[in-house]
Amino acid sequence: MYADRIKDLKSSAIRDILKLTARPGMISLAGGLPAPEMFPLEALQAAAAQVLSRNGSAALQYSITEGLIPLREKIVKELNGDNAHLTIENVVITQGSQQALELLSKLFIDKGRVVFTENPSYLGALQAFRLFQAEITPISSDEDGIRVDALRDALRNQKPAFLYIMTNFQNPTGISLSLERRHELLQTAKEHDLLIIEDDPYGELVFEGEPLPSLFSLGGGKNVIYLSTFSKTIAPGLRVAFAAGSGEIISKLAMAKQGTDLQTNTLGQYIVNEYLESGRHHEHVDLIRRTYGLRRDRMLAALKAFLPETVTWNRPRGGMFLWLAFPPGTHSKDLLLRCIERNVAFVPGQEFFPDGSGTNTARLNFSNSSLENIDEGVRRIGKVLRETSCRTGEQADMLL
Ligand SMILES: Cc1ncc(COP(=O)(O)O)c(C=O)c1O
Repeated sequence: MYADRIKDLKSSAIRDILKLTARPGMISLAGGLPAPEMFPLEALQAAAAQVLSRNGSAALQYSITEGLIPLREKIVKELNGDNAHLTIENVVITQGSQQALELLSKLFIDKGRVVFTENPSYLGALQAFRLFQAEITPISSDEDGIRVDALRDALRNQKPAFLYIMTNFQNPTGISLSLERRHELLQTAKEHDLLIIEDDPYGELVFEGEPLPSLFSLGGGKNVIYLSTFSKTIAPGLRVAFAAGSGEIISKLAMAKQGTDLQTNTLGQYIVNEYLESGRHHEHVDLIRRTYGLRRDRMLAALKAFLPETVTWNRPRGGMFLWLAFPPGTHSKDLLLRCIERNVAFVPGQEFFPDGSGTNTARLNFSNSSLENIDEGVRRIGKVLRETSCRTGEQADMLL
């Protein structure tokens, strides 16, 4: 009855976990949600009221597939910086970056076509690629991001439809691609005529150090399709994001979008445009940075205070996630089940590895919990780890 591509369709483990974490008393460090108290509610109320009273009919009408022109102009201005070569023909507004990932899959993936990703990678992207029956080849990564030597090796044997990569504070690890690697990657892409999809929802959420230039800007827009979203800096419920790339690819993407939803919701685009015009966006992003920075610091302190020394973690300079490694042999999924009994949740890292590795790893979100809940959540995880170690000597070896 169903199409071939549906046969292997599975519900995402993250969504299943999130269902469990909806019960009262649960501290969820699992979801990838921004902090709701950071939504610029008043400014959005004002923007919505303004739009409806001034442009009501247009904002509630069908609109063009590529997206609202003044909004695209603002995005182009931001992307161009000093380097003014992009026009609105290079940008299409999408219903979240997730839709851009789906549309790009539509454009580039035939059944069995190889797609390169980081290892680990974003689950929503993997889901979209798999729905189009891609063969995923994961490329190993380290603390500087994807390993370009491993990419070169893979390119010797396979010609992928594209490489999908998150350059800043990637989901799930929080790791960013170093500047040196960005240059190496672009050089390799040029040599091999490799198309890169650069997904950058977290780039603006930088807590320390200078933001690094995107592959898209470094490469002058060649070989790279750049995705970003207002989900993490304004609010995800608006579902307003964008894709930027060559005029040719963007016009194909808009054609593919027509068959999907005709256009991104007009009202949401008008509200985002009006909000950006109010000039408060950059100041608001600064506030988010400071707030998430404090939450990251609190989580780092709690991990140090409550987790056994055999557990290790990184210190991301931005974004929403932190990455944990339990000692080899630990199964994070089993640990999660015990943690859920204690009303705390995280995402087992294995979910994000296309090759099924990473069984001892975990993703912790710090953006969506108060400082008190961060302390208490991590304390509960520490308690479960210690209890497990007391229960059986064998497990103690594994866990601590
Ligand atoms: C890496 C990455 N890409 C894309 C998305 C989807 O974002 P959007 O709300 O714009 O669809 C997310 C959401 O968490 C993400 O982490």
